[in-house]
Amino acid sequence: MKLRRWMAVGAVAVATAATLNMVPATAGRPYDPTAQTLGALGLRHGLQIGTAVSADALNDTADPEYRKIAASEFVSVTAENAMKWESLEPTRGSYDWEAADQLVNFAKRNRQSVRGHVLVWHNQLPQWLTEGVADGSISKQELRELLRKHITTVVKRYKGKIWQWDVVNEAVSDPWDTPPTLHYKGFWAENLGPGYIADAFRWARAADPRALLFYNDYNIEAFGSGNPADDKTQFVYDMVKRLRAQGVPIDGVGAQGHLGTQYGNFNTFQVTEALKKFTSLGVATAFTEVDVRSQMTEAVQAGNSEEINPRLQASAANHSVLMKACLLVRSCLSYTVWGFSDKHSWVPGWFDDPPEGLATIMDENYQPKLAYHEIKSDLILAGPPFVLPRIAPKPRR
Ligand code: G3I
Repeated sequence: MKLRRWMAVGAVAVATAATLNMVPATAGRPYDPTAQTLGALGLRHGLQIGTAVSADALNDTADPEYRKIAASEFVSVTAENAMKWESLEPTRGSYDWEAADQLVNFAKRNRQSVRGHVLVWHNQLPQWLTEGVADGSISKQELRELLRKHITTVVKRYKGKIWQWDVVNEAVSDPWDTPPTLHYKGFWAENLGPGYIADAFRWARAADPRALLFYNDYNIEAFGSGNPADDKTQFVYDMVKRLRAQGVPIDGVGAQGHLGTQYGNFNTFQVTEALKKFTSLGVATAFTEVDVRSQMTEAVQAGNSEEINPRLQASAANHSVLMKACLLVRSCLSYTVWGFSDKHSWVPGWFDDPPEGLATIMDENYQPKLAYHEIKSDLILAGPPFVLPRIAPKPRR
């Protein structure tokens, strides 16, 4: 009996493996996986490989390569800035949908899914809002109502067109903030208290019952001490656990994946463990803004390959760690890079002392870097029994 059961299990495993490893038939030509896009290779595992898209770059007629790669290499897109509140409602009461609509239409034309980014964040808020609160002309009660209206308006406009929404972004402090004990930080927590988080998810769910609703943050790729006072991953884990216990409709946790080669970073299994722990709460996971930057010493800037090569290798290794961990955990639905070329990366504009760069998977001329090839090889080499198709949760009511 026991033997027969094992034989049955074995037969199912072999059949599953064979099906999953099926490769597209090509008329008489051998299948060359390296010629496939990242997007196509990801779909073999049900994993969506995406990129953030800059509206300026997309509209730059002098740079058709950007548009071409954004359309072909990826199966999912995220608006880098176009769906942030300051972009959508620069003047109170008057929404400018142009850039956001353009991206949603671009995705539709290219059969891509859209990660909506972002409904509630303390950065890139319109001036009329932050100044109104600062000078007292917008009361706390009115602010809460404005947030409800904003979430409802934006989510309803794109109802049915957004796969995952980053509902709340970066709500938690870092150990280098004051006070160092981790806490809910920023404009929203200061003005409305942490209750805004549950409210935001409920309002988003009411506006679109089908979109998967995510909490998104950086430095939550792996656990640290396990003490929520200084371990941001633990703090977020405890928060999500509480929200789920209260019936808040949160469906996913996005780890942004902004890493730097100057840091210790993590190995694949540390990241896998974090994804699994979040999964155990019943939520999906995703890498939402992956890039791995390096310090640009004078030698790097002068083109010294002895300093450039280790940076490219370390960046590739870290991109690959996140990819492998994602592949290993079936709740990990998407792997999104925060821009695909060093030509259009937020990093050099943000980190200037010391300057940092080289963060993305293609160079400034759109040539694939080591990181591109490494994550591609991860996607090619992965398969059963340890890498299985993704399992997406049903949006929580
Ligand atoms: O649009 C103005 C332009 O009119 C002006 O001339 C120019 C001068 O500085 O600024 C332009 O705005 C910039 C905007 O990006 C659009 O390019 C802002 O200065 C700049 O601060 C802003 O940076 C964005 C940053 O978020 C703001 O916090 C980056 O592009 C964007 O990549 C970055 O994305 C965030 C995610 O949303 C959340 N997670 C972290 C990630 C990286 O910071």
